[in-house]
Amino acid sequence: MATPTIAILGTGSYTPTRILTNEELSKQVDTSDEWILSRTGIRQRHIAAEGEHTSDLAAHAARAALADAGLTAADIDLLILATITPDIPMPASATIVQHKLGMRSHAACFDLNAACSGFVYGLDTASAMLASGRYRYALVIGAEKLSSVVDWKDRTTCVLFGDAAGAVVLGPSRGDGARIIGTKLYSEGGMADLLCIPAGGSACPATTATLAAGQHFIRMKGREIFKVAVREMEDAVEEILEQHALSPDQIACVIPHQANLRIIEALSKSLKIPLERFFINLDRYGNTSGASVPLALDEARRAGRVKRGDTALLVAFGAGLTYGAALVRW
Ligand code: ACO
Repeated sequence: MATPTIAILGTGSYTPTRILTNEELSKQVDTSDEWILSRTGIRQRHIAAEGEHTSDLAAHAARAALADAGLTAADIDLLILATITPDIPMPASATIVQHKLGMRSHAACFDLNAACSGFVYGLDTASAMLASGRYRYALVIGAEKLSSVVDWKDRTTCVLFGDAAGAVVLGPSRGDGARIIGTKLYSEGGMADLLCIPAGGSACPATTATLAAGQHFIRMKGREIFKVAVREMEDAVEEILEQHALSPDQIACVIPHQANLRIIEALSKSLKIPLERFFINLDRYGNTSGASVPLALDEARRAGRVKRGDTALLVAFGAGLTYGAALVRW
């Protein structure tokens, strides 16, 4: 049996309606619009409503991607949900999304924890599973309710994050959509402590003491992450371009993880790819971790930033540390 070419057949995204501006945040913690904008490029972020869970955001984005692909939930036999903010620790929120979408019961559904690189990890995993011929159509979703794990009293992190979801439908190429040309994943576990949620797992189960110490919130060494992020994404891009005999000027659009405008500017400089070729929407959403790349991909597509024949490059880094890149051709 010939290996099918796997393509992105549809994209979709969803952001909660509530917008939290820098101005509003500066009334809650000692910060300012000027500081946030100049250090990060972020102007606002979206925040999920009370009772609106990660699975709800994911289901909205998935429905939009299915409609775009001209398929229904019944067609899907694989669902991967990239998230670090599952509805509950167990079972996987992917199964909750499956139920909300009304998918058939025998589909394979699981969560994937690779933080901000989660969507690129999901793309690699799903395309390999589809290429095996054992699955036909997959939903790869990145969805986060980061507002639930942010310490709203910590100005060094609370200004950075937001809630959102993005999704793609993958399947055998039909001549439309974007063919996945290649993916490359990496991790560096020695730097796990740079960015983590210290408690709530088996190493440090929840107690009144961990709650009082705020150990269920995101803790980050921002300056260290900044330096590593640029180097890691640069390595990932150089390696994947070399593997596929492409040069930076053949990349029509770069869709990077949306963490900080200064990181993207540094990457543009080191890769010698002009900033105008990077799709940037972090000003409106902040860092939405696993949702960041698929949300940007969906918006870039709808904004006409990728056209037929264009090669686009997705690149991400995140907690783990994890990082990776993917090349797609429209
Ligand atoms: N408002 C005002 N002042 C602040 C704020 C704030 N929100 N936050 C920090 N400061 C202060 C600090 O206390 C510090 O003050 P000091 O000089 O008196 O000590 C000063 O501003 C400078 O702080 P730095 O941390 O050096 O600021 P920096 O320029 O490095 O910017 C930032 C911080 C935005 C976090 C940056 O380091 C960054 O973006 N790092 C990367 C983070 C990242 O990308 N994480 C992604 C991973 S996401 C994931 O996987 C879930």
